[in-house]
Amino acid sequence: GIGDDGRGGGHEGHAGPAATGGRSVDSLTEPSPEPADVRVELVAREEPFRLASGEEVEGYTLNGTSPGPEIRAELGQLVEVRLVNESVPAGVTLHWHGLDVPNAADGVAGVTQDAVPVGGSFTYRFRADQAGTFWYHSHQVSHVQVLRGLLGALVVTPPGGVGATDALALVHLYGGTRTVNGRSGETRVTAAPGERVRVRVVNTDNGPMSAWVPGKPFRVLAVDGTDVHEPGEVRDEAVVVTGGARVDLEVVAPARIDLGGASVVVGEQAPPAAPRPASALDLLTYGAPAPLGFDPAAATRSFDYVIGRSPGFLDGYPGMWWTINGHMYPDVPMYMVAEGDVVRMRLENRSGEGHPMHLHGHHAVVLSRDGVPATGSPWWVDSLEVGDGETYEIAFVADNPGVWTDHCHNLPHAVEGLVAHLMYE
Ligand code: C2O
Ligand code: CU
Repeated sequence: GIGDDGRGGGHEGHAGPAATGGRSVDSLTEPSPEPADVRVELVAREEPFRLASGEEVEGYTLNGTSPGPEIRAELGQLVEVRLVNESVPAGVTLHWHGLDVPNAADGVAGVTQDAVPVGGSFTYRFRADQAGTFWYHSHQVSHVQVLRGLLGALVVTPPGGVGATDALALVHLYGGTRTVNGRSGETRVTAAPGERVRVRVVNTDNGPMSAWVPGKPFRVLAVDGTDVHEPGEVRDEAVVVTGGARVDLEVVAPARIDLGGASVVVGEQAPPAAPRPASALDLLTYGAPAPLGFDPAAATRSFDYVIGRSPGFLDGYPGMWWTINGHMYPDVPMYMVAEGDVVRMRLENRSGEGHPMHLHGHHAVVLSRDGVPATGSPWWVDSLEVGDGETYEIAFVADNPGVWTDHCHNLPHAVEGLVAHLMYE
């Protein structure tokens, strides 16, 4: 019926029974939804705005700003976000990147909902059932709308907090300027000398970024919203943060986190910026194996996802388009699974360029890269950089029924066909 179904999400158009005061038959029989613990309204507009550091940007805002408001919830809380489209002509949606929400709340225009037109609204409801760092963004004409501002951070904390000062560092490029929390140059976090600070780095850019701390050791606490138990302390190495990915770092004040053109200064008298070290942290080679909670050797489905590139026509336009297993979008067969399947997927990149691959609705564990098994702390990802010529094997449990998008998060590549779908039978 019309109105909120209390589970995944609900639509309110500008016409229909809800708007005219009538009620549908369904809504009379449905139990009224459980009240949410966290309620947010986000109003999307097309309008110029100023970054915190002063530059003007032609783009889109959420509640008048970009990035939009940081949404925070505690583990287990029910979150309700009402999206209102005031003036985004192409329509808008919100996707909760990295949080495995129910399919109806996934926010993919044309797959799980229609884009919300100007004057319309849509209510997303989901349980914050994983503590970690996530983000949200429009999933309608994403290569334009995300780039120009329809995004924000979503942080889920364990009850009682993280036991350290908790700071956000959402990185975004506005017209070529790299910003942290909408500010170019330096972003400051207040901290007393010796204080431990957890900095949640969110890379919302199309390409990979390296994060590192000049002159001081630091720890990697989590990747893509999941805690890692190794590598422990790191010094003079950079962490690669894939497009769309998140990495939580722990530093002791004073420190500077260099994010390639922008930085986070924690406490007073942080060391100056310095050139980044040559080596990049390789999460595959640290630590001892730890239990996954399922057995990837007992896979009930195995798929290939081979990325290539070939000449052809897309929507009637000639060009060099991405292919998946030799097929061009939209002729890429769906990956079919049944609930409870243990799924293995081999991602092979033969396309001449690297791709930050993003799977909706599930977290996958990395099993190997180029045949070398991962031996570290389990490395759970929703966004994985697959370099040109590389092959990754990943595995996940099919535990979230629906139709899920699995695409390149270099968003122009998704428009150029690097999109597949996972569907439950
Ligand atoms: Cu961050 Cu399909 O998106
Ligand atoms: Cu790509």
